[in-house]
Amino acid sequence: MNTALLFATVVAVLVCGAFSDHHVGKKVADKPFLMKQKNILGLLHRIHQDNVFKEQVDVGNTYDIEAHISNYKNTKVVKEFISYYKKGMLQRWEPFSVYYKTHLEQAISLFELFYFANDFDTFYKTACWARDRVNPLMFWYSFTAAVLHRDDTTDVMMPPPYEVYPYFFVDSDIIQKAYKYWMMHVGTPEHHTYIIPMNHTMKSKENLLYYFTEDVGLNAFNMYYRMYYPSWFNVTEYGHKFDRRGEMFLYVQHQLYARYSLERMSNGMPEVQPFVYNKPLKTAYNPNLMYHTGQEMPPRPSDKLVTNFDTYTIADIKNYERRVADAIDFGYVKDEHLKIHSMYEDNNGIDYLGQMIEGSYNSPHYYYYGSLFHFYRMMLGHMMDPFHKHGLAPSALEQPETALRDPAYYQLYKRMYHLVNKYKDRLPRYTHEQLWFEGVTVENVDVGKMYTYMENFEFSLGGTIYVAKEEDMLGVNLHVRQPRLNHKPFTYKIEVNSEKAVDAYVRVFLGPKHNYLDEEWDLNERRHFFVEMDRFRHHVPAGKSVIERNSHDSSIISPTPDSYRTFVKKVQDAYDGKTQYFIDKSHNYCGFPENLLLPKGQKGGETFTFYVIITPYVKQDEHDFEPYDYKAFSYCGVGQDRKYPDDMPLGFPFDRQIHSKDFYTTNMYFKDVQIFHKKLEEVSTPTH
Ligand SMILES: *[C@@H]1O[C@H](CO)[C@@H](O)[C@H](O)[C@H]1NC(C)=O
Ligand SMILES: *[C@@H]1O[C@H](CO)[C@@H](O)[C@H](O)[C@H]1NC(C)=O
Repeated sequence: MNTALLFATVVAVLVCGAFSDHHVGKKVADKPFLMKQKNILGLLHRIHQDNVFKEQVDVGNTYDIEAHISNYKNTKVVKEFISYYKKGMLQRWEPFSVYYKTHLEQAISLFELFYFANDFDTFYKTACWARDRVNPLMFWYSFTAAVLHRDDTTDVMMPPPYEVYPYFFVDSDIIQKAYKYWMMHVGTPEHHTYIIPMNHTMKSKENLLYYFTEDVGLNAFNMYYRMYYPSWFNVTEYGHKFDRRGEMFLYVQHQLYARYSLERMSNGMPEVQPFVYNKPLKTAYNPNLMYHTGQEMPPRPSDKLVTNFDTYTIADIKNYERRVADAIDFGYVKDEHLKIHSMYEDNNGIDYLGQMIEGSYNSPHYYYYGSLFHFYRMMLGHMMDPFHKHGLAPSALEQPETALRDPAYYQLYKRMYHLVNKYKDRLPRYTHEQLWFEGVTVENVDVGKMYTYMENFEFSLGGTIYVAKEEDMLGVNLHVRQPRLNHKPFTYKIEVNSEKAVDAYVRVFLGPKHNYLDEEWDLNERRHFFVEMDRFRHHVPAGKSVIERNSHDSSIISPTPDSYRTFVKKVQDAYDGKTQYFIDKSHNYCGFPENLLLPKGQKGGETFTFYVIITPYVKQDEHDFEPYDYKAFSYCGVGQDRKYPDDMPLGFPFDRQIHSKDFYTTNMYFKDVQIFHKKLEEVSTPTH
């Protein structure tokens, strides 16, 4: 590839350094936008009870979908929805899961009703109508997916999911405590906030990782990723494109696994073992969660074997595994029209593989390759009640907000990864040409001190308290306080020497140095655990220069969002003309939570490998790195119909086999770094 030519054209339009400043990514919202934002926030308050906003209830009560059928782009979907509704949909007082076939069909139908509304007004009226008429969890799901994919709501932000529906994020005993407190204080309005501390009880060694697996930001991230890229989102039917969808799916799953593995290593725990069929599953799990209906999320005892369940048998699932493995070994996939596509010849192989394993509705052949990612979770999720004979509620693995809490999630991933790895191992290793950047030398990387600590994070449990009137909402000041991992923001400096001015891409990773037994580890083994820290465009001038970058600007993370209440107030104040409201895509929830950027260190320091590689930047999309663009693009992409701003495979250069003899080039740098874990008091307050 002749990159020099491409460079000359892009260098000219670059403004050096502007992209690392997080104040740049904002634009002021106008009144019509604020109205939309306000209305959407209103619809999600206490989703599990009837809407308390009289205005919205009136809109819903006076709206007749059938009478306005011409206001929808696709009348077929409206008729389909009406027919579902008339036959009787999932009751309001029942748990919902997209892993249950009938629930999913209804949720998609509701999504399509929202999605195909011609204009915002029709969408909003439809939503006000549905808000009090369909199952609340289904409403939340389909409504969110619609807001994220409609063209007229692209900049709208959603409230934090842990405040919309705390039941998925907070132990059930804490919610009981909230109820108890509320019952005893009803009628005596409290002006101060009552805080319920949450302490984790150690039930098994796996629980050591609660601060990671139960982090509300992590689970919110997973929920939003699934909402941005739902497997059932058929791009052909909905008229949008997701660039590198399958590849991104595999990459995000892998990064979650690698990140979780680093946390295991910090806690002296052995590597995750892949799930196997023929041995009883040792890993028990009790989610400690309860649906708003009072039903608990079923726990799973240890030493149980998986069995056939209502929708698939174990034999079915093994068939899908074999078909995917056949495609990898044979080198071809068959699509619905029996057309054959190479897995290795063009660059689409990894995307086919990702879509086949995920089971996206745009997979080469959904019915033939199935959806291993989801079927695995159904298989384990259904273990306690495989044929729905005992009325158990959907399990933690069967909700995107809770799946990452279950340690079995990562064991299932490891099984899936076997297939991905099989594929990647057949791809050629990166050549010297692909790794090298002629004329560019990284002379040193200085990371400074890195500290992690545990802090308290508070958020509102108000959403669990039923209120009769809008005015009563503000009186509910109940918070939960959960410990969470955080780190001191750090700055690193990359010393570069370049023969000429070049437009470059800087990729930064953090990986383990030793295995959990503290032994030196071959790079080809430990490459599987390298976690992306950042990826950014940078203009490197000729001669010696220093690239300075703050962890806060990382392209994988999103900062902790405002609370629901603060968010509503900001929007209202701006609407009333008191302040300005900035549209800021860096606050997009689909980013890895900033507080988890670094894995937990050790008191005396834990050694990790910090890795930097500088490669040529090749423009992908005319909007690449626009000022108010999505900041957290590494894991989440840049939204529909845009090109992902990178020309290399995701995970480059650790996604393929590495032989140390031909890997090292002058434009990369390995640095041993230490992460120290301290008490909050020992680390000065982070400043941004
Ligand atoms: C939680 O733990 C803290 C510190 O260990 C303790 O002071 C507090 O009483 C505990 N709270 C509850 C509700 O158990
Ligand atoms: C997605 O839509 C296309 C075009 O309508 C269709 O051929 C395909 O079968 C759909 N995929 C699934 C899994 O339904």
